[in-house]
Amino acid sequence: MLVVAGSASPKLAARVAQQLKCQLIKPELKRFPDGELYARIPADVKGENVVVIQSTCCPPNSNYMELFLLLDAVRDLGAKKITAVIPYLAYARQDKRFKEGEAVSLRTVAKLIESVGPDRVYTVDMHAHRIGDVQEIFNAPAKNLTAAPLLSKYLSDNYELKNPVIVGPDEESRQWAEAAGKALGADWDYMVKKRLGPEEVEIRPRKLEVEDRDAMVIDDIISTGGTMVKAVKILKKHGARKVYAACTHAVLASGALRKVRGAGVEEVFATDTIESKISKVSVAPVVADALR
Ligand code: R5P
Repeated sequence: MLVVAGSASPKLAARVAQQLKCQLIKPELKRFPDGELYARIPADVKGENVVVIQSTCCPPNSNYMELFLLLDAVRDLGAKKITAVIPYLAYARQDKRFKEGEAVSLRTVAKLIESVGPDRVYTVDMHAHRIGDVQEIFNAPAKNLTAAPLLSKYLSDNYELKNPVIVGPDEESRQWAEAAGKALGADWDYMVKKRLGPEEVEIRPRKLEVEDRDAMVIDDIISTGGTMVKAVKILKKHGARKVYAACTHAVLASGALRKVRGAGVEEVFATDTIESKISKVSVAPVVADALR
């Protein structure tokens, strides 16, 4: 097996190659003066099982283009089996037509990925709240892996926790709160919105008491940080002792990190699906396991 490291995932690709004890290929990439991308695979991939690892944030468009060039090149160069690992699948949030006339971008990128022919696709905690199984959007065999247990392990490995509870900031994040909570053997919960009046909405943990407990808020993405800040403030208002903020994908639109830290968290941390300064947890073990 050979691992090709896309430019958005150099560290993750190296970690996966190390875990699998296989060769890491760094493609030659150049940008032409007009902005076009040049890609070259500097290795013989003929007859090999090739894994291309490339996240698609940020910037999404050129990272997608690089992914397409790399996948198409390895196919063209005679690779036997091609696996696309797309740790962060950009454009997944538009997974339906919310307003008449909109492009359903998740379906569009799925078709583009399929068109360059990977035999298998892996994503990690893909944001597609209305899609039950990632297999529904790809024609090739596809699997969505999760980083949630790794995030709660990081928490327990690094902090002395008092009666911990894992909380998702909304109904959609229930899946990650449940997986992280179960892995830690801790209580888990998610927040729900309750309408108190025409203009008053209360957001609170569904049933659990958080008073004098340590809480980790878990979400798939921190983008603007708005969701995380709201959740942290609510937990503090309900008496949580210490609050930690965790996500799989640190999209971190400008100012997000400052906002979340400013809400009074002990630490904000993420995985390396998007390589950032808060990428404290690597998803390499789950990716390598899936590839084995
Ligand atoms: C929403 O459905 C997602 O799971 C995240 O909660 C959301 O993308 C976070 O975005 P932001 O950081 O901008 O609030």
